[in-house]
Amino acid sequence: MIKPFTSKISTPDGRLTPHHNHIQRTLSTMKGQYADQPAYQAMLAQGDQLIYEVYENRLAEIPGELQHGTSIVHPGKVGNEYFMTKGHFHNVLETAEVYYCLQGVGYMMMETPEGEWAAEELAPGVVLYVPPRWAHRSINVGRQDLVTFFIYPGDAGHDYGTIETRGFRKIIVEQDGQPLVMDNPAWLE
Ligand code: PA5
Ligand code: NI
Repeated sequence: MIKPFTSKISTPDGRLTPHHNHIQRTLSTMKGQYADQPAYQAMLAQGDQLIYEVYENRLAEIPGELQHGTSIVHPGKVGNEYFMTKGHFHNVLETAEVYYCLQGVGYMMMETPEGEWAAEELAPGVVLYVPPRWAHRSINVGRQDLVTFFIYPGDAGHDYGTIETRGFRKIIVEQDGQPLVMDNPAWLE
């Protein structure tokens, strides 16, 4: 049986110490996710930039455990679309997640398989509840790192395939210096 333990989040980088996993996702892992494909290809030709990182404590994949860690989305854009995570449904669709924003500004883009969508603003101090069934993607609309702490049930798992194939219904782009939610032109029904 696992013993109580602590880990510490450093600021402003969001690093969790100690941690079991440090995931680094670069531009090449986001193929097909950004609406402006020519901008994506042009950026990739300049180098495989780091888009976001996750520090996690991996626990047993059983319902009673709570997976937790930090997510750090770096600032930037592909064309006029802000840097973001891949986004996913949970494998066990009926599992929720809590996010607590520590730094930066952004949005959590969410949608259900039934077609509802929501975009909630993330800023320091904001606690976001992502209910069961809602896919979620963090989007950094600011100039500094977007750092969040997350907790979800041990057995939830990640279904990336659905979003990789269909995309999210809505994307967030910069227009006149402001974030704008718009229909994803590449979304597949
Ligand atoms: O489980 C979560 O929702 C988070 O830990 C995310 O995994 C994290 O923000 C990275 O996003 P993604 O898993 O979509 O790459
Ligand atoms: Ni999740």
